[in-house]
Amino acid sequence: MSLQIAFLGAGRMASAIVDGLLARGVVTPAQLGCLGGEGPSASKLASRTGIRLASDLADLLKNADLVVVAFKPQHLAKADPRLAELTRGKLVLSVLAAKTLARLARTFPEARNIVRTMPNTPAAIGAGITGWCAARPLSSADRATVTALLGAIGREIELPEEQIDALMAVSGCGPAFVFEFTAALREAGIAAGLTRESAALLSLETVLGAAKLMAATGAEPEDLRNQVTSPNGTTYAGLQVMAARDFRGILRDTALAAKARSAELSAQD
Ligand SMILES: NC(=O)c1ccc[n+]([C@@H]2O[C@H](COP(=O)([O-])OP(=O)(O)OC[C@H]3O[C@@H](n4cnc5c(N)ncnc54)[C@H](OP(=O)(O)O)[C@@H]3O)[C@@H](O)[C@H]2O)c1
Repeated sequence: MSLQIAFLGAGRMASAIVDGLLARGVVTPAQLGCLGGEGPSASKLASRTGIRLASDLADLLKNADLVVVAFKPQHLAKADPRLAELTRGKLVLSVLAAKTLARLARTFPEARNIVRTMPNTPAAIGAGITGWCAARPLSSADRATVTALLGAIGREIELPEEQIDALMAVSGCGPAFVFEFTAALREAGIAAGLTRESAALLSLETVLGAAKLMAATGAEPEDLRNQVTSPNGTTYAGLQVMAARDFRGILRDTALAAKARSAELSAQD
């Protein structure tokens, strides 16, 4: 990529994208600039990575072609009104949870296009999955920019905006559901007689190994499950309890509650 990228907000998500772009050699530090709020995050990011620390909004945006909006969702309401003019003709990519394209268009009315994205926390180590949608059809150059940028923090998938709340329920909140599953497996191991240390190691490595096996084989999880489930064996005994307690129903209700909350938050200003 040869364009200049401005980061408005320089916290965890901006850092993950900057780190991914630089580690993969997609851009050089000279192509990136950042600006935060009143805290130290932007100067820390700039001094750690060598990207430019802008002095103000006009300085940040003057040469930028792509603007990554990475402050907190609640900052949008108080955003500087000069942003409308300063982002004229630029591509704006937002990572703000629950901020719709229509809402973003009120702050960035003159942008040449707006992309709403929903990354997840494994983005911090380049293992994220980001869903995204654009306000208008993207030019092929802008599409290449968006996929290269999101590709720096993991994988990406384009979806209609009406599916973003559902995506939030699966991949946005999903890491926390997997953390909870892993903790539950650890507690189960302790109940079964293991030390906490052993149970923690075994549960973590099991989740990691099983995820890698699914990714490496591309097989359906049900097929992999069936391969290790002999009739009346140990896995079968455990799965019988999961079925009797409606594990899938619990997870469905979990995701649907997250989706409903995401929709509520998206409806707020
Ligand atoms: N972290 C994740 O895994 C994740 C996942 C999906 C989506 N997101 C989205 O990413 C966004 C950022 O989250 P985060 O976790 O990176 O937050 P964060 O670490 O708290 O960073 C927030 C950033 O916003 C800056 N900021 C504060 N007020 C500002 C203002 N008025 N103008 C410009 N910048 C301002 C902060 O700067 P100071 O330090 O100077 O205050 C800081 O650089 C959120 O909208 C969130 O929805 C995050």
